[in-house]
Amino acid sequence: MLSAHTISVVQATVPALQQHGEAITRHFYRLMFEQHPEVKAFFNEAHQASGTQARALAHAVMAYAQHIEHLDALAGALPRIVQKHAALGIQPEHYPIVGKCLLQAIREVLGDAATDEVIDAWGQAYQSLADLLIAAEEEVYATHAALPGGWRGERTFRVARRQVESELITSFYLEPVDGGALQIFQPGQYLTLVLQVEGRSLRRNYSLSDAPSRPWYRISVKREARGVASNWLHDHATVGTTVNALPPCGDFVLDTTKTQRPLLLVTGGVGITPAISMLESVASSGRPIRFVHAARHGGVHAFRSRVDELTRTHPNVQALYVYDQPRPDDRPHATGVVDTDLLAAQLPADRDVDLYFLGPKPFMQQVYTSGLALGITPDRLRYEFFGPLEPLQAA
Ligand SMILES: Cc1cc2nc3c(=O)[nH]c(=O)nc-3n(C[C@H](O)[C@H](O)[C@H](O)COP(=O)(O)OP(=O)(O)OC[C@H]3O[C@@H](n4cnc5c(N)ncnc54)[C@H](O)[C@@H]3O)c2cc1C
Ligand code: HEM
Repeated sequence: MLSAHTISVVQATVPALQQHGEAITRHFYRLMFEQHPEVKAFFNEAHQASGTQARALAHAVMAYAQHIEHLDALAGALPRIVQKHAALGIQPEHYPIVGKCLLQAIREVLGDAATDEVIDAWGQAYQSLADLLIAAEEEVYATHAALPGGWRGERTFRVARRQVESELITSFYLEPVDGGALQIFQPGQYLTLVLQVEGRSLRRNYSLSDAPSRPWYRISVKREARGVASNWLHDHATVGTTVNALPPCGDFVLDTTKTQRPLLLVTGGVGITPAISMLESVASSGRPIRFVHAARHGGVHAFRSRVDELTRTHPNVQALYVYDQPRPDDRPHATGVVDTDLLAAQLPADRDVDLYFLGPKPFMQQVYTSGLALGITPDRLRYEFFGPLEPLQAA
C-alpha cells in the first residue's frame, strides 16, 4: 500500500513525465539492453526502432502516475499488458531489472528534478505495479498449465503441413512433438514462437488462423521485406522442422455471449488471420456475419477460396472484397479503400453490431473513426495491433 506522501510525490512528477516520458523510456531501453543483454531476446527490434514500444511503455507509466489514487481506472489497460507479457513468457525475476533501469533513466533524464525523494517514491510505485502484474501473469501461467492440453513455458511443435495462401502469406500447421492434446484457444488469440535464427533467439507472435479444437495449431505468416522471423519461416520451416511455442494468449477475442448479434469482421492484408479463425468458429452458428477484406490485388488476397466456400455453404455469411490496386484479371466486389460509405452499407440499421478489425495502422484509423461516426459504440469496436498498441484517434 503506497503512503499518501509517496502518491503525492509521484503525482507531482506527472508534468515532467508528460514532457519527457518518451525520452525516459527510450533511454531506459538503451540502459537495459546494455546492462542486461539477456532480456533482449524478449523484445522486437523493429518495435524499438519505430519507437512504438517506447511510446507504449511511456503511455502506461504516465497512465499509472495519473491514476495512482484510483487504479481501477486502469483496469481496462492491464489485461492487454498481462496477456502480452504472458504470451512472451516474462518472469518475476525480470521485474527488478526493468525497475532498476527505469529509475536510472528517470534520474538521468530528469536530472536535478529527480531528487532522492522522487526516485524513492517511484521505486515504491514501480514495485506495487510490478507486484500486480507478476500476480496476474502467474495466474495466466497457472491457468494455461491446468487446462486440458495446456502447458507452461516452451513446447516443441513440428511443422506438419505448409499451405501457400497468397503470394505473400503461407500457413504452417503445427503439431506437438509430444503427441499430446492441444489447449483450446479463443478465436483471435495468438501463439508466440521462440525461434533460433542465425545464432539469435527471437520471439514473435502469430495469430491462430484456424478454428479452435482442430488437432493442430495453424499460423499464417506474411513474408515481410527484410523481416528476420517471417523470412526464416518461409525459407527454412519445411515439413518436419521443429519450433518452440508458448501457449496461446491475447485479449482480442470473439465475444460469443450474444450469439445472434450481427458480426462484422473488417481486415486489411495479413490482418485477416485472426478474423479467419473467428469466421471458421462461428460460421455454423447462424449468426449474421459480414466479412470485409481489403487487399492490394488478387495476388496477395489470402484465404479467398475458403471464405467463398463458407459464403456458399452458409447463407448467414456474406463477403466483400475491396482491392485498391486491382490487376486486370481481378474480380473484387469493390475497388478503392474501406471508407465510411462502404462500412455503412455493411451495417444493420440499428447499428447493433460487433465490429472486429485489424490491418495496417492507417486502415485501422479509418475503420475506427468511420465506426464511431456511424454510431457504433466504442465497446463494440474491437481491434488488435500486430505490434505494441497505438492510438487510433488524434489526441
Ligand atoms: C498479436 C500479434 C499477432 C500477430 N499475428 C501475425 C500473423 O498472424 N501473421 C503475420 O504474418 N504476422 C503476425 N504478427 C506480426 C509478427 O509477430 C512479426 O512482427 C512479423 O512476422 C515480422 O517479424 P519479422 O521477424 O519477420 O520481422 P522483423 O525482423 O521484426 O522486421 C519487421 C520490419 O521492421 C524492419 N526492421 C527490423 N529491425 C529494424 C531496425 N533495427 N531498424 C529499422 N527497421 C527494422 C524490417 O526491415 C521489417 O520491415 C503478429 C504480431 C502480433 C503482435
Ligand atoms: C511495471 C512494469 C511494466 C510495465 C508497466 C510494462 C508495460 C508494457 C506495455 C504497456 C507493453 C506494450 C503492450 C502492447 O500494447 O503490446 C509492454 C510490452 C512488453 N513488455 Fe512490459 N511492462 C513492464 C515490465 C516488463 C518486464 C519486467 C519485462 C521483461 C523484461 C517486460 C517485457 C515486455 C516485452 C518483451 C513487451 C513486448 C515488446 C515488443 O513488442 O517488442 N515488461 N510492457
